[in-house]
Amino acid sequence: MKSIIKILIVTIVLLILATLFFSMIKSKSNYTAVAIIENNEHLGKKLMETHCYACHNPTTSHENRLAPPMVAVKKHYKSVNTSKEEFVSALKKWVEAPSEKLSKMPGAVRKFGIMPYAPYKAEDIELIADYIFDNDIEQPEWFQEHYQQEHGKGMGKGKNKN
Ligand code: HEC
Repeated sequence: MKSIIKILIVTIVLLILATLFFSMIKSKSNYTAVAIIENNEHLGKKLMETHCYACHNPTTSHENRLAPPMVAVKKHYKSVNTSKEEFVSALKKWVEAPSEKLSKMPGAVRKFGIMPYAPYKAEDIELIADYIFDNDIEQPEWFQEHYQQEHGKGMGKGKNKN
């Protein structure tokens, strides 16, 4: 009888140890998934294409678009003096609670209506913003001309850097 209890106790202890061991391995692999570069591609690029390109896609025609292309958003959020920290935090703030008060693109709000709120993971938005800040974002064919027309004279000129 005693030996059965002993075997039971040993089994339980082993089970607990095994669970601990596997949860440790799991949290380690979660950690490596946070690495920014995967197969030479920035994780933020994929996340942006998945989460934002439903509306901010550069290949949608001028007439059919639901929102400004991401390159236009970048131009309004990044000037020559904007640090990456400022850029990332401004994008995060916007995505967490889009509002007319916070908007830097009132023309887009008038045209498309305010961006609908959707819950995103803060880390995903950080990766997306990090990618947008550091990389050239694909722009639609019509964009250059459109941008010159809307911002060529006055406010936008020379101030913003792509
Ligand atoms: C369902 C469509 C939709 C999706 C998905 C979407 N947006 Fe938007 N977004 C819009 C629209 C419409 C506007 C233009 C109106 C506005 O500024 O609110 C906009 C504007 C913006 C602006 C400029 C806000 C301003 O007015 O200053 C930022 C920044 C932005 N989006 C970031 C993102 C990011 C990052 C993602 C992906 C995580 C995303 N959006 C996904 C529709 C969308």
